[in-house]
Amino acid sequence: MNIKDLYLKYFEEKGHVIIPSAPVIPENDPTSLFNTAGMQPLVPYLKGQTHPAGTRLTDVQKCLRTNDLEEVGDLTHHTFFEMLGNWSLGDYFKKESITWSFQFLTQNLNIPVERLAVTVFEGNETIPRDTESFEIWKSLGIKEEKISYLGVEDNFWIAGETGPCGPDTEIFYWRSEDAVPSKHDPEDDRWVEIWNNVFMQYDKKADGTFLELAKKNVDTGMGVERITACLEGVTDNYASSIWKPIIEKIESLTGKSYLDTNYTKSMRIIADHMRAIVILSADNAGIKPSNTDQGYILRRLIRRMIRYAKKLEIVIDSTWDKELATLLINQYAPYYKELDQNKDVVFTVLKDEKQKFNRTLEKGLREFDKLVDKESNHIEADIAFKLYDTYGFPIELTSELATEKGMQVDIAGFHQKFKEHQEKSRAGARGKFKGGLSGDGEIETKYHTATHLLNAALREVLGEDVHQKGSNITPERMRFDFSFDRKLTPEEKSSIEDLVNRWITESLPVTHKEMTKEEALETGAEAMFIDKYGDIVTVYFIGDISKELCGGPHVENTNELGTFKIKKEEASSAGVRRIKAILE
Ligand code: ALA
Repeated sequence: MNIKDLYLKYFEEKGHVIIPSAPVIPENDPTSLFNTAGMQPLVPYLKGQTHPAGTRLTDVQKCLRTNDLEEVGDLTHHTFFEMLGNWSLGDYFKKESITWSFQFLTQNLNIPVERLAVTVFEGNETIPRDTESFEIWKSLGIKEEKISYLGVEDNFWIAGETGPCGPDTEIFYWRSEDAVPSKHDPEDDRWVEIWNNVFMQYDKKADGTFLELAKKNVDTGMGVERITACLEGVTDNYASSIWKPIIEKIESLTGKSYLDTNYTKSMRIIADHMRAIVILSADNAGIKPSNTDQGYILRRLIRRMIRYAKKLEIVIDSTWDKELATLLINQYAPYYKELDQNKDVVFTVLKDEKQKFNRTLEKGLREFDKLVDKESNHIEADIAFKLYDTYGFPIELTSELATEKGMQVDIAGFHQKFKEHQEKSRAGARGKFKGGLSGDGEIETKYHTATHLLNAALREVLGEDVHQKGSNITPERMRFDFSFDRKLTPEEKSSIEDLVNRWITESLPVTHKEMTKEEALETGAEAMFIDKYGDIVTVYFIGDISKELCGGPHVENTNELGTFKIKKEEASSAGVRRIKAILE
C-alpha cells in the first residue's frame, strides 16, 4: 500500500471521514490563485461553520505553489505537490493529534524514534509557551534533547495575513546516512520537516488582533513527496518512486541519462512542470494559457518546460508532451477522477500552446543571443518588452535566460513599459473611436473585436481562402460578409461558434502596432481594403490567432466579450455568404 492509502486508512480508523481533494483552483476564493495547503479549502469550517462530513476529516489535497518556480530543478522544490492532512473541527486537540502522528510514523511507517525530532512554540507576549505539547512528546518517548522550543517565525502557523491560526509543532526526520546526533539542531538541514500539526485557537483579524475561536481545531499537513523520499532513503526527491516513471520516460524519449549532470536539471523541470500542467489544465475550472492569473502561470509552465525540452534536443513538434502527460494522467487518475475525464483538454492545451510558442521561440532566442553579444551585462527594459510583445517571452523567462548568462534585466523598467503600452492602446482606442466608427458605445467596440475573431474562426474552420467582404455593426448585432460558395452545415456553424467562444474564454490580449503597409503584408495580416489605407497602417493582434489591418477601436482583452452566438447564415450575393451574430 502506498503512503497516501496508508495515511487515509489510519485516520479513517481513528474516526475521520475521507473527503475528496478540493480543486487546485480555489472555488469560492477570488483572493488566491491556487490552493497552497490542505487547510485552505477548509477555512470556513476552521472558523466555525459546520462541515457536512463531521468533525474529523482527512484527505490528500492537490496543492500548487509558484512562489519558487525558479527553484524548481533542485533536489526538493516542486510546483505541484500533494498534502496529506487530518483535521479536528472542535473535536480532539493536542493529545490525540500528537499521539496519532507519533504512532503513524513509528508504528505504521516503522520510522525509528531516534530519527525523529520535534519543535514546539516557545511563546511570546500574547500567546503562552506550549509546554503541553512538550510534555506530550516526552511522554511518548521523544527525548528532551530532541525537542526544541522555537519562536513565532518557526512555530506559529497562518496562511497569509489573516484567518485561522495558532502555535504548531513540527516533526523532523533525520534524512542522512550520517549517524543520528543525540540532540536536535534546528540549523542542521539534515533534519527535514515532514509533518506540521497546527493547533488553531485563533482567528487573526486585519487589525492584528487575535480572536479566540469558539472551538479549537487541529490542522495538519504532510507533503507526500518529501515523506516518500525520506522513507525510500533518497536525498533527491526525483529519485523516489513518485518521479521514477516520468524521469525514465524522459530518458527513453531523449536517449539521455538523468545521472548525466548536463541533463539532470532539465529533466527535473520537465517532470515537475508537466505534472503541474496536467493537474492545472485538467481542473474543472477550465484554465487555459493566457496572460493573466492562473492562465499566465499555466503559460509560463508550458513555455519554461518547452525551453528545457529543447535543451534535451526533444523535437517539440513530436508527441513527447502527450506521452508524458498520458503517463502522469494514468499515475494520478486513481486519486483525481477529473484527470481521466478531461484528458483531451490537457492534450489540446499542450498542443495549442506548444504551437504558439514554438513559432516564435527560435526567433526570440536568436534575438536574445544577438543582444548578449553586446558587451554589457544589462538588458534594457525595451528589449525585455520586445521579447515579451513580439516573441511571447514571459518576463520571467527573459530574466532566467539573463541569469544563465550572468546578466541582469531591468524588470521594473519592463513593468513600466508594459503599463505605458497598455495606457497607450487604451488612449489610442478611445481617440480613433471618436474619429472612426459610426457607433460610439462599448457594445460596438465589442462587436468590432468579435468580427476579427469570427474572421479568424471562419478561416480556421472553412479554410484559408475565406476572406472578409464586408461588415456592419449596430448595438444589437453584427453582420459579417465573407467569400464562400455554399451554405454552412450545422456542424460548421457550431465549430465556428465554439472556436470564437474558446478564444473569448482564453482571455487573449488585443494589441496593435503601427507599421508600413509592406511590413503589415509581410506579417501575413488580413487586409480587406488595403488600398484604402495610407502608407502607415495599424495592425491589430488578438493573442496570436488573428492579425488584421484595422483602425480600431477594440476591447483590450477577449474576455470582455461575453458569449458569441450565430443567429443566421445566408447568401449575400454570388460567392458571398452573410452571418448575423450577437454577443450575450
Ligand atoms: N496548514 C499547515 C501547513 O501547511 C499544516 O503546514
